[in-house]
Amino acid sequence: MIWRFLSIVVAVPLSVALPITPRWGDSQVKHSWVRVPRDWYCVGPAPEGATITLRIALKPHREDALVEALYQVSDPAHERYGDHLSKAQVAALVAPHPDTIRLVHAWLDHHDIPTSSISPSHSGDWLTVSSIPISQANTLLGASYKVYQHIETNERILRTVGYSLPAALHAHVAVVAPTTYFGRPRPWRRTSHPISNGRILPHGDADFQAEIATLRGKPGSFVTVPSSCGSLITPSCLRALYNTSTYIPAATSKNSLGIAGYLDEYAIHTDLKTFMTNFRSDAITANFTVVKVNGGLDNQTDPGVEANLDIQYAESISFPTPNIYYSTAGSPPFKPDVEQRTNTNEPYLDWLDFLLNQTTIPQTISTSYGDDEQTVPLDYAQSVCTLFAQLGAMGVSVLFASGDTGVGFDCVANDGTDRTIFIPNFPATCPFVTTVGGTTGVNPETAASLSSGGFSNYFARPSYQTTVVPPFITSMGTLFKGLYNTSGRGFPDIAAQAENFQIVVGGVMEVVGGTSCSTPTAAAIVSLLNDLRISQDKPPLGFLNPLLYTSLDTAFNDITSGSNPGCGRSGFNAGVGWDPVTGLGTLDFGRLRTIVG
Ligand SMILES: *[C@@H]1O[C@H](CO)[C@@H](O)[C@H](O)[C@H]1NC(C)=O
Ligand SMILES: *[C@@H]1O[C@H](CO)[C@@H](O)[C@H](O)[C@H]1NC(C)=O
Ligand SMILES: *[C@@H]1O[C@H](CO)[C@@H](O)[C@H](O)[C@H]1NC(C)=O
Ligand SMILES: *[C@@H]1O[C@H](CO)[C@@H](O)[C@H](O)[C@H]1NC(C)=O
Ligand SMILES: *[C@@H]1O[C@H](CO)[C@@H](O)[C@H](O)[C@H]1NC(C)=O
Repeated sequence: MIWRFLSIVVAVPLSVALPITPRWGDSQVKHSWVRVPRDWYCVGPAPEGATITLRIALKPHREDALVEALYQVSDPAHERYGDHLSKAQVAALVAPHPDTIRLVHAWLDHHDIPTSSISPSHSGDWLTVSSIPISQANTLLGASYKVYQHIETNERILRTVGYSLPAALHAHVAVVAPTTYFGRPRPWRRTSHPISNGRILPHGDADFQAEIATLRGKPGSFVTVPSSCGSLITPSCLRALYNTSTYIPAATSKNSLGIAGYLDEYAIHTDLKTFMTNFRSDAITANFTVVKVNGGLDNQTDPGVEANLDIQYAESISFPTPNIYYSTAGSPPFKPDVEQRTNTNEPYLDWLDFLLNQTTIPQTISTSYGDDEQTVPLDYAQSVCTLFAQLGAMGVSVLFASGDTGVGFDCVANDGTDRTIFIPNFPATCPFVTTVGGTTGVNPETAASLSSGGFSNYFARPSYQTTVVPPFITSMGTLFKGLYNTSGRGFPDIAAQAENFQIVVGGVMEVVGGTSCSTPTAAAIVSLLNDLRISQDKPPLGFLNPLLYTSLDTAFNDITSGSNPGCGRSGFNAGVGWDPVTGLGTLDFGRLRTIVG
């Protein structure tokens, strides 16, 4: 690619002169992979006439201001605890320096990108550059956008293996997307099989009814957790196990629970009704609102297993709290003749962009999707993680599934060394979300072997983990040395049941497992805590981790057995206190409410 070694005089009205006249030709690599990411192959050049919409994250003027504020309002010991920020206050903290804005605009102007196609996010921290020709994007970013196809799903995306920015911009631009993030967030759901020895039993079938009748518990009727919950999970099992059955939500006009959905997963209203009829007959009026984000659909004849699982368990634990299902466009077919929708692989950005601009945001949000951390470019992961911090600062509790791959599945480092490493997941490793691992069995619960956990290679250990995580690492000695990062953010933070969940999909009972089960379960419990707080005119809990890591002894069911094998290794062991399999343990609502209520 040829750069014009030419400095220009910027023709925008400036109140302050630019510090230097930038040399736009002095380009440096921003991010590049050593090879085409695994599972993707190039199928050809970008189609003639294709355009792309770019998002440019601008670095904030005061780098740590947002995170400082987040910790203050989230730390129960701080005088600002619960004093969450408004949209405008967040915007002020993440605002770029005026020089940053001028410089980036001058650069775009230099490449003849019209001002009319540039729009800032509501906080001014991201710029969207709409529908520019691929050739122009290639020049702008020193990129080589091509069409890549996924070996399994045949999904096609437009990406580049690397991109560059003028040296003068590196201090001002955090990331440009979509560029090098090839990953596709996957739902963390490992098994899905019909109930009853492989027979698919339609709803209404007599055998089905008989079988369900034996499994069903009357709402709140379990005093102790029946042993049947060890082999098949119902809402009654979870409500007994996590001690929520006697609580009746009281702040339902103010409190709500959000479920983030991607990849064309739809939650079905009639399936929820069937589910409630069978498992929570006092809650058959439960319903949810669908919010479509950026072209997301709501096809009520195309049930998604993940979507139904999330909604059915979130509703049955949080009822009558309003639940909102966000349908964010996930994997559109590749149409070379129209603009490649940028949401193909930037779903968090689309959804966060939408959510952060809402006047009302649910106080609790559950997301059961993720990706291998190493397949997410560092600059992209950092920028998205900062957006989760914005949600936390505004008083939202954000929960993510830890993943279903134990310590790792494909355990080869992608940095060119090909060495074996444990593979953490993103966004599970973002320090500003609460990550949920998996358990199984009852009396006692043990770690589910699928439960992903470990240590980030991108995010350092946050302050809230400085008491509980180092003792775990010390206890490991030299075991697995070099396979995991001893200074990284440890995950998960908490856990919940992850196996043998009965759900209804298209009128048919299925049994599923994965941390996709754990996450809506934990989020629903958190949402009940938020209900309690709000009904007492207290602020919601917001970012949970500083609170969770200080109520260690009393609020959790500590999980002390089981492990999360992977990478041909036995994995980490669950033990007393925090561990990278089940975190601090499972939530006991009854005990937590005495701490937060
Ligand atoms: C934010 O929402 C307002 C009101 O709904 C809308 O007018 C505005 O365009 C949105 N801004 C962005 C950046 O999406
Ligand atoms: C649930 O909500 C949807 C969409 O708002 C509506 O079409 C449907 O009739 C409702 N179902 C029940 C049982 O209220
Ligand atoms: C909804 O899903 C069904 C089943 O997958 C499909 O046949 C139908 O075309 C879809 N409808 C729309 C509008 O996409
Ligand atoms: C370990 O994590 C730290 C961040 O805490 C990071 O700077 C470092 O590069 C990581 N090491 C490896 C080998 O990935
Ligand atoms: C359930 O919560 C109550 C407080 O609401 C507490 O007294 C009780 O010990 C809890 N039960 C269990 C089994 O943890």
